Amino acid sequence: MRVLGIETSCDETGIAIYDGTEGLLADTLYSQVALHAPFGGVVPELASRDHIQKTLPLIRETLTKAQTTPNQLDAIAYTAGPGLIGALLVGASIAKSLAYAWNIKSIGIHHLESHLLVALLEIPAPNFPFLALLVSGGHTLIAKVKKLGCYEILGQSLDDAAGEAFDKTAKVLGLDYPGGPALAKLAQLGKPSSFCFPRPMTQKKNLDFSFSGLKTSVLQTLKPIVLDEPTKADIAYAFQEAVVDTLVMKCQWALELTGLKQLVVAGGVGANQALRSALTACLERMGGQVFFPRPNFCTDNGAMVAFAGYLRLKNANYDASLEIAVKPRWALNDLS
Ligand code: KG4
Ligand code: ZN
Repeated sequence: MRVLGIETSCDETGIAIYDGTEGLLADTLYSQVALHAPFGGVVPELASRDHIQKTLPLIRETLTKAQTTPNQLDAIAYTAGPGLIGALLVGASIAKSLAYAWNIKSIGIHHLESHLLVALLEIPAPNFPFLALLVSGGHTLIAKVKKLGCYEILGQSLDDAAGEAFDKTAKVLGLDYPGGPALAKLAQLGKPSSFCFPRPMTQKKNLDFSFSGLKTSVLQTLKPIVLDEPTKADIAYAFQEAVVDTLVMKCQWALELTGLKQLVVAGGVGANQALRSALTACLERMGGQVFFPRPNFCTDNGAMVAFAGYLRLKNANYDASLEIAVKPRWALNDLS
């Protein structure tokens, strides 16, 4: 079975083709970073308009790369939510229209499910059940992944997601959008122990997260000091260390609580090197194994959509209706 995947939930147009026998055939990405950079964040209307411009040319390019003609495709998978409504609608409309024109199946995919499953594309891959830490721009959660479609959320963010905290703190430090990678880069130049920020909600063995206070702590720390470049780097270091420590602590508790030995890390913040090193060390101490998708499969991409679509279609799961419907809000544990 050969599936075309379309991801347009936010500021990345991601297209890929996955084949059940041959694996991933092609994967292309267009990032809107330059478009949104002057505004310091994603402008939803601009995102939708840009997806309209880029999706079809990128599909053509991906088909060529995969040496695939439309009549070799069995289905189209697209991100149906959660995400920006206009951006989602672009992907859904194009997917539904092409599926109708090419007389093939289509299926709407849950964005977080596709993030969680993409680690199965890598070698070595985890086996069900496993624990997953999903850390993206919009979500932070720890879930027990029992099998395809069966996700038990053990803890989640009560306010800002980890990626959002990175982005907002980066802004406070005067870094350019997108803030997360910029802050991580600056943190590499920082000295340990110059500053210390709280590890939120770690007094008790609770698996929920709250990162919004961290940004406020950074703001308060900044007020009385002269912010030169070395100090900025020290603050970035301490902020990243606080987020990483908190995430690692909670993952350790969740592994102890569930008795699971495999941890999958997913979502954009999963590309963070400090987090990767700390989780690798933690799982080594615990005698478990951690699985990271390659960094460009941590951030939004088409491969995860094509792959999740393939897995669902294998189970005869698809949407026969012609209705173009997306879900900007969609809870992960609503899936089955
Ligand atoms: O999963 P993703 O691409 O999009 C969402 O579904 O949200 O995640 C984007 C988030 C952004 O907040 C971005 O700043 C953050 O992931 N991010 C990082 C890094 N790379 C991306 N945060 C910290 N360190 C990184 N290296
Ligand atoms: Zn995402």
